[in-house]
Amino acid sequence: MKALVLAGGSGTRLRPITHTSAKQLVPIANKPVLFYGLEAIAQAGITDVGIVVGDTADEIRQAVGDGSKFGVDVTYIPQHAPLGLAHAVLIARDFLGEDDFVMYLGDNFILGGISGLVEDFRADRPDARILLTKVADPTSFGVAELDADGRVVALEEKPVRPRSDLALVGVYLFSPAVHEAVRAIEPSWRGELEITHALQWLIDQRRDVRSTLISGYWKDTGNVTDVLEVNRSVLEGLEPTVEGVVDENSELIGRVRIEAGAQVTGSRIVGPAIIGSDSVVTDSYVGPFTSVSEDCRIRDSEIEYSIVLRGSSMTGVRRVEASLIGRNVEVTPAPRNPSAYRLVLGDHSKVQISS
Ligand code: DAU
Repeated sequence: MKALVLAGGSGTRLRPITHTSAKQLVPIANKPVLFYGLEAIAQAGITDVGIVVGDTADEIRQAVGDGSKFGVDVTYIPQHAPLGLAHAVLIARDFLGEDDFVMYLGDNFILGGISGLVEDFRADRPDARILLTKVADPTSFGVAELDADGRVVALEEKPVRPRSDLALVGVYLFSPAVHEAVRAIEPSWRGELEITHALQWLIDQRRDVRSTLISGYWKDTGNVTDVLEVNRSVLEGLEPTVEGVVDENSELIGRVRIEAGAQVTGSRIVGPAIIGSDSVVTDSYVGPFTSVSEDCRIRDSEIEYSIVLRGSSMTGVRRVEASLIGRNVEVTPAPRNPSAYRLVLGDHSKVQISS
């Protein structure tokens, strides 16, 4: 069995972060979301992994390398444009050969891994198995309709009027039967070869398409709210450790990890929270569910329920909440006069100012 991981695409809902970096590399508890997927694949005993890459190929290659740090062997599969999930399967034909495979969307996060699912698929070998979960708003997902016996009868991509509340989770198990399906379908109205159409084609051909309803924790980290929520959930399980330096005027409460080379001075950190390697926190409050990446500076500030990416600094700012701050960002107070906001924001930035 092989794995096909999708790490191309454009990531419009996470702009401006994704103008300059891949959405699959947004850190959750200071580790790229993609790495959780690769770890789950390795844990399921799959070592042959194809990664589909687009515009951000260099960054993904640099982060993942040859896969050896995850115990897998990675083959990169360039996709010249994000032409759809089924297009990714189409261009991976040579890599996949006649093997069964798990397709894993690189921005999806599943707590508890995929080992059980892969084991079941190896035992039953249907033509495809999809994972479904109940969601409050199905309109931003693929949606499945089941018959009275729980068989999948229809699938629709991002329907305006969903026929159920069962969303497709971004992990799919396929036999080589899918290759005929992805060759048979036409691009959708949005110009993409949809995997939901390929699955529908298999259903219409009376092939064996089964579903598993999962009730565990799953998120598509495609937007800021979900990224912060996944970060919260991963931090809940954090093992507290201090590898950096914390002075006697600081207080660490609950699950706090201070990574190597980090310095905390005169500050109060209430976990769960992580301070990344070589970051410096001075005279500040860092509250629950906050991940500060490496090489950041936080001085005389207050922040909670947020993610701060590498190399950013915050001085004299209170209080920041529910925020995703990109790389090498500077947040400082304005001079007293004139009393005004001075902003240099990237395209598609979103700022909420309390005034
Ligand atoms: O997260 C689950 C949802 O994922 C499913 O419910 C939907 O049925 C499915 O279409 C997909 O919807 P998204 O709108 O979230 O897909 P997105 O464009 O975000 O792409 C998912 C991943 O695949 C992401 O890591 C980017 C990558 N990708 C996407 C496309 C369209 C590629 O590598 N190549 C592509 O051509």
